[in-house]
Amino acid sequence: MKRNFHVRRLSPLGPSEIIGLDVNSVQDQEAINEIRSLWNESGGILVFRDQDLTPEQHIAFSRNFGPLFGGPDGVPLQDTVSRYIHPDYPEIYRVSNQVDTVGAPLGRARAGTYWHSDVSFRERPASASVLYGKQVPNVGGDTLFANTQAAYEDLSQTMKETLTPLRAVHDFAVAAATQYAKPIVIDDDFDGTNRAVHPVVRTHADTGDKALFVNPGFTSHLYGFSVNESAALLGFLYGHLTRPEFIYRHRWCENDLLMWDNRMNIHYAVADYGDAPRYLERTTVIGEQPR
Ligand SMILES: [Fe+2]
Repeated sequence: MKRNFHVRRLSPLGPSEIIGLDVNSVQDQEAINEIRSLWNESGGILVFRDQDLTPEQHIAFSRNFGPLFGGPDGVPLQDTVSRYIHPDYPEIYRVSNQVDTVGAPLGRARAGTYWHSDVSFRERPASASVLYGKQVPNVGGDTLFANTQAAYEDLSQTMKETLTPLRAVHDFAVAAATQYAKPIVIDDDFDGTNRAVHPVVRTHADTGDKALFVNPGFTSHLYGFSVNESAALLGFLYGHLTRPEFIYRHRWCENDLLMWDNRMNIHYAVADYGDAPRYLERTTVIGEQPR
């Protein structure tokens, strides 16, 4: 790939914006590798500015990084969100506070208004999420990212060693109970498909860097601990993970394509924009089993 684009750091944690690159030009393996390296060097957060993409192009770019949830070589997301999937593109999950002409939602409203790592309740959770901001408010609707590698690194050696052998249970039921209106939740989502046990400290498959891998949105408890013990430890970890020093706050511009790594970040979508129209489309790459 001819390097005629600019990379500018947005936060000391690594997140960077890329200006002057049409992601449709990322085709050959060399270009894909270059983007993957940049991504890893950027705390797993790259913002490609000013993209003009069809759903097909959004999907094609995302597939460079692995199979997609909803795609021909992947499993679908949980049934409860099926109503928000693009009717013509099963790989695209829609986020919006708008409705169509017959009043049906154009996407999930107030999606992700809690700290989480996408799809962490599956055996193979998301690696990349690739979110395209097609319509965003002038102010508000920011997305917060907490860097879970920086948070891990900041712990004492004793705490790191304490956490390393632990495992946590992730369960979509946690979000279903707190984030979704009763009639929307589909019972089939509780057959065990959306529950998984993962290490509390995971090692990144590309870089070997370690990160905390628990989140209040989907983690139900620490495996083998009593309810109170688990709540105390997780409470400490959640407070630590979301310290301001570990947070990058993304202020959206229209046509941003934001690719983040769920293996080294948790995120929170701030719902502070009222009725200001907002419409985003997300593809989600299926990652490896956390180790
Ligand atoms: Fe999310």
